[in-house]
Amino acid sequence: MKRIFSGLKPTGHLTLGNYLGALRRWVETDQHQADALFCVVDLHALTMEHDPGRVRRLSRQTATLMLAAGLDPEQCTLFVQSHVDAHTRLSYLLECTATDGELRRMIQYKEKGERARAAGESVRLSLLTYPVLMAADILAYGTDEVPVGDDQTQHVQLTRDLATRFNQRYGHTFTVPRATHPVVAARVMDLQDPTSKMGKSHDSGAGIVYLLDEPDVVRKKVARAVTDSGREVRYDREASPGVANLLDILAACSGGNPEELAGVYESYGALKRDTAEAVVELLRPMRGRHAELAADTGFVDEVLRKGAERAREIARPRVDAAYAAIGLLPAS
Ligand code: TYM
Repeated sequence: MKRIFSGLKPTGHLTLGNYLGALRRWVETDQHQADALFCVVDLHALTMEHDPGRVRRLSRQTATLMLAAGLDPEQCTLFVQSHVDAHTRLSYLLECTATDGELRRMIQYKEKGERARAAGESVRLSLLTYPVLMAADILAYGTDEVPVGDDQTQHVQLTRDLATRFNQRYGHTFTVPRATHPVVAARVMDLQDPTSKMGKSHDSGAGIVYLLDEPDVVRKKVARAVTDSGREVRYDREASPGVANLLDILAACSGGNPEELAGVYESYGALKRDTAEAVVELLRPMRGRHAELAADTGFVDEVLRKGAERAREIARPRVDAAYAAIGLLPAS
């Protein structure tokens, strides 16, 4: 059976981008078609300035929202990355496989590193090495497919390169995985700045729809979305990125096609109204279920305990094999 692995970083409240780009497919198809593992990748939340209490709270909230969105612990394995040592154990071997040059070329390192330096902050070494830990997350499980949004393509390509290089040098150890992306909304853009990605770690809340936003908050954010000075509703990501983003969101929510939907609307106002309602309806069941689950932390903790147990069992033999293959003396 095909193996799928993917993860969410607890660096902020989950957004519509996280849902449409990744989580929704995990729920609707991946967990039913494969042996799927989904992970709250908490170690990845430590690469930038962080507040320990907030990371802890967000880790639980992220897991709770993954369940509220419809991940079923009977159908998939849900766990927290730091509960399974295999990730950091394998990461070091992959650091010995990667070069500093290829990590310095990672777009997210360049962007986030530059931003931190410009703000006079130091850059944590883990911001540079983080894609190697991500490769370890994926490779430890013999993953075939990694369902992610567009922004993770470069990281999955690095994972493929490291797996191939390790296999060539030390003998076949890892499956070489491939990224899969949704057909629409692989990159949901910020409503206030439609040239940049809607990201949970951004400060401005106005352009970001959070999965737990109240319906009226969603309506307000969509109503205020930046469009352009034109009138005609066209699907043109270059010339009219704000309008194209709304069409992508509406298409993803309603199962339509963004180009065809463009022909249906005569005004931005009507497009915004329908988009807002489609998002509100999409999020409604999730908000209700989240409230129920948040009141029963024992259930969530038990799901995470069992998930980590299963994840450890799957990862251990492959990571042990990698330790042996690279030349380390097995412990007796
Ligand atoms: P993270 O936590 O930033 O995002 C989680 C998932 O949501 C997708 N996503 C989006 N998709 C469309 N539009 C958006 N605006 C948008 N924002 C986020 C991301 O593409 C991702 O699929 N490095 C990863 C976490 C990670 C991981 C892994 C993922 C660590 N190890 C192993 C897969 C496999 C990250 O920062 O995702």
